[in-house]
Amino acid sequence: MPSPIDPFYVMEVVASAQRHEQEGNAVFHLEVGQPSTGAPRGAIDVAHRLLDSDTLGYTTSRGIPELPPAIAAHLGRQYDLDVDPARIAITQGASGAFVLALLAAFDPGARVAVTTPGYPCYRNMLTALHMTAVPIHVDATTRFQPTVDLLEAAGPLDGVIVASPSNPTGTVLDPDELAALCSWCDEQDIRMISDEIYHGLTYGDVQTATATALSDSAIVINSFSKYFSMTGWRIGWTVLPEELVTPVDRLAQNLVICPAALSQHVALAALDCRDELDAHVDRYAANRQILLDGLPKAGMTDLAPADGAFYVWARTDHLAADSRLLAAEWLRELGVAATPGVDFHPTDGHRYVRFSFCGAPETMHGAIDSLLTWRLRSLSG
Ligand SMILES: Cc1ncc(COP(=O)(O)O)c(C=O)c1O
Repeated sequence: MPSPIDPFYVMEVVASAQRHEQEGNAVFHLEVGQPSTGAPRGAIDVAHRLLDSDTLGYTTSRGIPELPPAIAAHLGRQYDLDVDPARIAITQGASGAFVLALLAAFDPGARVAVTTPGYPCYRNMLTALHMTAVPIHVDATTRFQPTVDLLEAAGPLDGVIVASPSNPTGTVLDPDELAALCSWCDEQDIRMISDEIYHGLTYGDVQTATATALSDSAIVINSFSKYFSMTGWRIGWTVLPEELVTPVDRLAQNLVICPAALSQHVALAALDCRDELDAHVDRYAANRQILLDGLPKAGMTDLAPADGAFYVWARTDHLAADSRLLAAEWLRELGVAATPGVDFHPTDGHRYVRFSFCGAPETMHGAIDSLLTWRLRSLSG
């Protein structure tokens, strides 16, 4: 029987925006969580060199030998933490890490808590793997993050996935909150999976902690896609509890053999390109302010705090009953591409839109100007 998997709707929005562009229209891209920049310059130089000099064959399933220690050093710098590189596996993006981690940690039928709103692929992956995604409904009262009380009310659980900063709301669990969730999971023998893909992308004095520092049994997932601006290179990593290192390795050997060799070398070089990458974060911070100032003037309400990642989650149901129709109208009439919330929130998502601010500042200004004009037109019409 074919698997009953929902589409990742964002990708369909991306396809409509691309079609609109190919038809000769200008598009302000605020729909996808993909930096408008490529991999950092120093990393691209390595790619050019290796293409001419290296056979770029299979690597070990856990990655080229230099990359896990380099990531351990990066984590050491970021969190003042000593991580054994043997616990780090290199994967095909965070997505590949999730598949391996879920398969290694859980049996079919496992009940794994995921927030609603939240990143839709957690739910869809769990379904594909014959596990149950248990929705934890979160809202502004807990900054769209789970709490121990909410998890306790969810019934029996085998696992919990948290994302901080989160997609689509950008909200962050502060270190004490993450510690409380990790301790509760450890006490209850529930596996914590912490998606830290947006670490490095926070604004103001917001602090992020890693679950690796807080629990020996947590699985941490991360990626070169976001801070490192390398979505299409498809490289991520997971920091595993000791007992899952071999199971994940065996799964990787059989399912993917190894992540792409060239991409791993590029990722290794990207770890040394922090100046260029930090400049992107400064740009995101400026873009964020453009949206936080402009979106309310254009009629959006209930903006989530956007403390991290590069998204603003905003309420739109007073503007249109279904945000899918609203987003389609914006694309058609204004060339503004944004993502209706249905992906992230299966029941209430039609009331929200997610705006991504990882593009160029001109894109943010252009989109806000168009939305303001649209708003004035609808108010006067
Ligand atoms: C919260 C979250 N986790 C995981 C992923 C997957 O990222 P990757 O490109 O590393 O597979 C994304 C991608 O947007 C994401 O937003």
